[in-house]
Amino acid sequence: MIPESFIQDLLYRVDLVNLIEGYVPLKKTGANFAACCPFHSEHSPSFTVSPSKQFYHCFGCNAHGNAISFLMEYAGLGFIDAVKELAARSGLQLPDDHATTPRQGQQVQLLGETMARAAKFYYQKLKVSEKAIAYLKARGVSGEVARRFGLGYAPEGWQNLAAAFDDYGSPALQVAGLVIAGERGRLHDRFRDRLMFPIANQRGDVIAFGARAFGQSQPKYLNSPETPLFEKGRELFGLPQARTAIRESDTVIVVEGYMDVVALVQHGIGNAVATLGTATTGVQVQKLLRQAERIVFCFDGDVAGRKAAWRALENSLEVLAERKGIAFVFLPEGEDPDSFVRKHGRDPFLRLVTQAMPLSDFLLRELSGQCDLGSAEGRARLLAEAKPLLVRLRSPLLRLQLVKRLAQVSGFSQAEVEELCELRPLERVAPPRAPRQAPSLLRPLLRLLLQKPKLAGDLPLESLPDNMAEARAVRLLCATIAAAGEQAPAYPVLLERLRGNEYESILRAAAAELMHEPFAEDQIDAVFEGAVGRLLESEHRRAFARLQEKVQKLGVSGLSSEEKSHYLALLASGPTGRGAGVRSPGAI
Ligand code: UTP
Ligand code: MN
Repeated sequence: MIPESFIQDLLYRVDLVNLIEGYVPLKKTGANFAACCPFHSEHSPSFTVSPSKQFYHCFGCNAHGNAISFLMEYAGLGFIDAVKELAARSGLQLPDDHATTPRQGQQVQLLGETMARAAKFYYQKLKVSEKAIAYLKARGVSGEVARRFGLGYAPEGWQNLAAAFDDYGSPALQVAGLVIAGERGRLHDRFRDRLMFPIANQRGDVIAFGARAFGQSQPKYLNSPETPLFEKGRELFGLPQARTAIRESDTVIVVEGYMDVVALVQHGIGNAVATLGTATTGVQVQKLLRQAERIVFCFDGDVAGRKAAWRALENSLEVLAERKGIAFVFLPEGEDPDSFVRKHGRDPFLRLVTQAMPLSDFLLRELSGQCDLGSAEGRARLLAEAKPLLVRLRSPLLRLQLVKRLAQVSGFSQAEVEELCELRPLERVAPPRAPRQAPSLLRPLLRLLLQKPKLAGDLPLESLPDNMAEARAVRLLCATIAAAGEQAPAYPVLLERLRGNEYESILRAAAAELMHEPFAEDQIDAVFEGAVGRLLESEHRRAFARLQEKVQKLGVSGLSSEEKSHYLALLASGPTGRGAGVRSPGAI
């Protein structure tokens, strides 16, 4: 856990305008800044950043949030990584177990610089290597595309990097996996006479290389070892280059090979990334699902490719969310995306992507293929095979869909499938929003509290209706403010505290409205008093209606003595509660 206080400090220190400007050009418009929204495509700017609120909001697609959410949504970072990134930018030291010690921090930085320098060296060598240029040409790769990926050439010879680094013996070169100590400790370059594919993290920093041999030397691809910068199962080749195209199409295509990504770009398909010679992991899927609605796996048309697709399916189940789609393209035998797109061109490839087989179809097809559905044993076996997969699925809706289809195929009833697979009900992650009756009263209250948290102390909580989501959000907000003690935190901090809470979306919507139309500082107290007045009024009306109903059913004698005096007081003040200053029992 990262302590709240740290996040609070962090959000105070970071300048959101500065952060966003690093990714999206902003224009000053009055008190705010504006841009064309980076989260949806548009021609006139509806994306607004407020320097005073440290909050952004898009009036077109409703994307909104603070510095942390911006990095999560724009750069696709996880929460912890976003916090780390901001901490690094603002020179804050991450507390306890998330902290990289200063030494580790320095090491990571040194490794980063080392990789960047090596990438530059290889890149320059490519420009003067006839052999490498001819190879790329033969494979149909243009200079422009080679530049986009920063492709390079590691020349023949044993110690070329000595020309790029002052200290060839520096341990950093070995930790980075660029230099290897051979027999008798003699140092030499790892990559020799190979075409270099830099692997970059989401920020675009080079963290590893994949290196292809020319001709037949083995291995065909030699990759960087894992280092403090580089963990294979978390990274994808081509991700920073693909970001814009992914956002535009809301789809990401996952392929197996570096050259597949490059060839697709060459044919105008920019939203492809490659796994790094290993099975697709849940971490990778999660990373991609943060940036796109749909993942289409397009692996090679061979046994290995089909196996890779199945592994990708298995590892997607746990992270697959509702409304997100995962689908599979099965290329003709012997083809990979590179050869297919070169042979048939862009449109036929895109057609395959559009018509990709949904995950559930693939799952059922594979399982049914393994079982003889003509026999009772075979149908039972189908369920036995499906069970471990269904159990991993976290989305109730998707699970239900699959259960239904398994029921159809197996001839068991839906309830029998659930029982045989021992499926217990999943908790719903976020309850559907309750239909609201009078948000007009509670919404302004939320905004008032977010803008001036101190007001929470003056709010008669008992007067809030108890069956409405907004009212519960108001209560939660007040409790969070109260828990913060004397120093009421600013609302980006409050929202951060409430991240993941079931009322988060209500609170965020209120914060977004607030940014559009903040209350004038000199009027906010008066507006608050007015809102509290209306709240009490509606509470009185409800209390009166309740008592009135009881009286109609049971007569006045049906009321307790407390209820009687309350009823009389309400009658005296009129059902609106105005005038006599009556408050319902329990109201402060
Ligand atoms: P492939 O063997 O399918 O190669 O490996 P490819 O992508 O089609 O490459 P070209 O077209 O022959 O140049 C797919 C991926 O598996 C990893 C690499 O990431 C490669 O892009 N791989 C393959 C290795 O890591 N090492 C190898 O020796 C081979
Ligand atoms: Mn290939």
